[in-house]
Amino acid sequence: MPSERRLLGLLNSKLFCLAAFVIAMFEISNRDGLARTGEFHTSHGTIKTPTLMPVINPVDIFITPTEMSKVFGTELVITNAYLILRHFGDEGAREGVHNLLGFQGPVMTDSGGFQILRYGDIEISPEQIIDYQDKIAPDIATILDIPTGASPNREKAEETVRVTIERARQAVKLRSNPKVMWCGPIQGGLFKDLVEISAREMGKLDFQVHAVGSPVELMEGYRYAELVDLTMTARMNLPPDRPVHLFGAGHPMMLALGVAMGCDFFDSAAYVLYARDGRYMTVQGTLKLDELTYFPCECPMCVSTSPEALRKMRPFEQTDFLARHNLHVTFGEIRRIRQAILEGRFCEHLEMRCRSHPRLLDGLRRFLKYKDFIERFDPVTKPSAFFYLGPESAERPEVVRFNSRFERYHPPKLPILAIVPFLGENFAPSQDPEKTHVVKLVPPFGVVPEELDEVYPLWQFEVTKELDETQVETVTKSLAEYLKNYGKNYKKVVLYNDERRWGKSLVEACARVKKKLEIVQP
Ligand code: GUN
Ligand code: ZN
Repeated sequence: MPSERRLLGLLNSKLFCLAAFVIAMFEISNRDGLARTGEFHTSHGTIKTPTLMPVINPVDIFITPTEMSKVFGTELVITNAYLILRHFGDEGAREGVHNLLGFQGPVMTDSGGFQILRYGDIEISPEQIIDYQDKIAPDIATILDIPTGASPNREKAEETVRVTIERARQAVKLRSNPKVMWCGPIQGGLFKDLVEISAREMGKLDFQVHAVGSPVELMEGYRYAELVDLTMTARMNLPPDRPVHLFGAGHPMMLALGVAMGCDFFDSAAYVLYARDGRYMTVQGTLKLDELTYFPCECPMCVSTSPEALRKMRPFEQTDFLARHNLHVTFGEIRRIRQAILEGRFCEHLEMRCRSHPRLLDGLRRFLKYKDFIERFDPVTKPSAFFYLGPESAERPEVVRFNSRFERYHPPKLPILAIVPFLGENFAPSQDPEKTHVVKLVPPFGVVPEELDEVYPLWQFEVTKELDETQVETVTKSLAEYLKNYGKNYKKVVLYNDERRWGKSLVEACARVKKKLEIVQP
């Protein structure tokens, strides 16, 4: 065979095409903690991430995907292959999902897994749904998983994980359309060890996207701390370069938490389901149209009328209005999140959002338990200053990194130690500079030797000038530790005390070097 023909044969082979797709499909461009922005390439266009996929019901299209793309900036939609199979059968297979939806942009399909969770079993086999998705050819298809849900039954949970992995192994062999990328959902629900096994095994298979399964009941019940355990366990055990979808997450109040955990895709049926129920989404939570006097929103819908006028409209008009507002506010939050990641101030955005509901704050606090893992993905410098916004800021990756790297620090050999606890104010200690080692006290970082203070973010931070307990505690602990390790190296320790801010805490932290201590009240 001539060599070009051999090459063509190779190009046409399924294996080569699949490999070619896998190589540069997802490119991460910016990071902030585990949060990231990126580009996901499909044969129907490139999607910027993080992104929201509005759910399109194939038998009841409320706002068309084309209008969504023009008016709301939607880049990817999700629909349901199981519903398409049931309602359109062979016609769906002939037309393909893009023609069926009248949309030539990127489309993802779910498999009917969620229907299993809601309605028990479905009458279609896993093989059938793979074959059907290969035929309707979405850009991303999903295998038929068995959702664990939020059930505390361990035996059942084990079974859902086992069967989902088995089906996944079968699916990667069965798939035949090289243009279709596949999503492997992670199951295990409330059982972290099972989620870990599920993520590890799915991560070994040839999937281009993963999804965190079974989060819906947790989100509906505002069980954000458990949602964090589920999602973080999946994230920590999946290949870090694959995009992750958080199934069923599309409320603007929790998108930041989802992105913080390294999720890239979200989907929302809520925009229309809430609208049908008179519910109005905001980044702080959900409000009822009946209870509104003012619209707390700047979207084109809300500036055009008042809640009172809307209540007088026909039910369809109310639903249409609320669905559009809900989409505007959700995409607005996606844009704010992307911008915050680019600017390196996503952590501040996350802390702000998680203060809008106590359960979200529980979610944030649980998330911070994973701070050592998060730090590994965080860039060492960012374009923005570090803003301290409360005790949770003391657990940010920048602080974790500073403290772990400080373990490797050795002070210069100088006889005098000057401790300067002033926050951003210019202050020169009254000691011989040739003989003096100056350390600053910077909450929530701790002891910051003068020679390190140009390392990010120690030169670029803003803290409250009135200190809270966390700030005082982190610094006094760090100072006591410093003096325990290095106090003996100095002949004299001078504390420039600032009692108004720090009370007696700094003097107490110097207990170990009391004999050498000189306290100056500037
Ligand atoms: N939608 C919401 N949760 C799930 C899930 O666990 N699996 C699938 N396939 N879809 C979902
Ligand atoms: Zn609005």
